[in-house]
Amino acid sequence: MYKVIEKCLFILAVLCGVSSSRVLELSDKFIDISNDGVWFVKFYAPWCAHCRRLEPVWAHVAQTLYSTPIKVAKVDCTRFNAVATHFKIRAYPTIMFIKGPYRHEYTGDRVKEEMVNYALRMSQPAVQKVSHADSIGYLKENHPVFFGYIGKQHGPLWEIFTIHAEKYQPHTWFYAMTHEVVKHDMKPPNETAIFVYKEDDAFFFEANSALLEDKEALNVTLDKWINAERFGFFPKITRSNINDLMDTEKYIVIAVVSENKLSEITQTEQDFKDMVEGIIKTRKRDLHHRFQFGWMGNPELANSIAMTELTVPHLLVLNSTTSHHHMPDDDPVLMTPEAVVMFLEQIHNQVAPIYGGNNWPVRMYRGFFEARTTLTNMWRGNPVLTALVFGLPLGFLSLICYSVCCADILDAEEEEAPETHEKKD
Ligand SMILES: *[C@@H]1O[C@H](CO)[C@@H](O)[C@H](O)[C@H]1NC(C)=O
Ligand SMILES: *[C@@H]1O[C@H](CO)[C@@H](O)[C@H](O)[C@H]1NC(C)=O
Ligand SMILES: *[C@@H]1O[C@H](CO)[C@@H](O)[C@H](O)[C@H]1NC(C)=O
Repeated sequence: MYKVIEKCLFILAVLCGVSSSRVLELSDKFIDISNDGVWFVKFYAPWCAHCRRLEPVWAHVAQTLYSTPIKVAKVDCTRFNAVATHFKIRAYPTIMFIKGPYRHEYTGDRVKEEMVNYALRMSQPAVQKVSHADSIGYLKENHPVFFGYIGKQHGPLWEIFTIHAEKYQPHTWFYAMTHEVVKHDMKPPNETAIFVYKEDDAFFFEANSALLEDKEALNVTLDKWINAERFGFFPKITRSNINDLMDTEKYIVIAVVSENKLSEITQTEQDFKDMVEGIIKTRKRDLHHRFQFGWMGNPELANSIAMTELTVPHLLVLNSTTSHHHMPDDDPVLMTPEAVVMFLEQIHNQVAPIYGGNNWPVRMYRGFFEARTTLTNMWRGNPVLTALVFGLPLGFLSLICYSVCCADILDAEEEEAPETHEKKD
């Protein structure tokens, strides 16, 4: 088996030439050999700017995964259209994990660390078995968040756990262990239990005996619980994960700051961000069931939710079921942790002012706000180009109107023109 793969790779290398980086360049031949081994492939087009931005990151990913069985590759879809069609590529770049007939599109942030972790995780079985107590320490050090199953590996809880481990494998790690391995370390409430480990703390899934007997209810409840618990206490919130966060059915508490191109923020913003992070870290047992904290480095996304230009740093709380949002009345910079917690309790008790939402007038206003922001930003960045982009069509339009409405005048002028030429002659 391994020989065959090596041979294919050799043929491949001869066919398309391996570039100086560790990234394999694939051609149409890939369709025939994609079933062999584990592939992490970037489908790109040379003209696409996002693809070019990904290029150096992708080279790093390939370098890091070089010693693993995962082959990191790329396909130029403009040259090898058949591959793009075969894998149903609809946008560039598309990053896909391919293992035999199994395919999964990577949708996370395109940063090296996350992509490497994703590929490593996807190349393993969805649930990995842990047989030594020492390994738990290793897991704690290396994964900010992971899920664990404790107990005998049969029965309804185990069955449902494995279903969801497969479903959420693209997002997080799942392990299984006996009660013996963790009974001193974690003090599980039962011989059989499911937990999530997050930053020095384990939280157990609460299942009463009625739930354990109703398989369908257990399926739905465990699914919701895993989805709600799979985030760290204070993740960075971006366009790529905000929709996942909105599925948690918790309030999303966001510290909004503004990173520059080097991912730096001002001291005031840093202090504010640290203050908000401190709240969830010190009160996690009390708050984390109801509130998912996080921070946003790009105020544009927050502005579009709040439909106004927020000053940074700012505090924005989203109701993930209704999409309404809440903002403090006071200047967020001056708020103490106690004041923030009080504000959160007001929101939870539904006495804080509510803004926005997702009904159609709000959606229309949001569309209008986003269009206006885009235009303003374009104007600030490049007034000449903006004037051209919007001015030119307007110019043509007025010309067309002019020629339609005032055809006679134009005709008249045309008749006159030769005369003037003649006169000059
Ligand atoms: C633990 O087991 C008991 C009885 O077997 C059950 O009633 C209880 O709900 C279980 N708790 C958890 C967290 O699974
Ligand atoms: C559990 O739920 C998943 C969807 O989350 C579904 O695909 C699966 O068939 C369900 N399994 C059982 C045993 O109910
Ligand atoms: C959001 O708002 C609805 C309706 O006001 C409320 O029932 C729900 O508890 C709120 N919170 C979350 C986290 O969805």
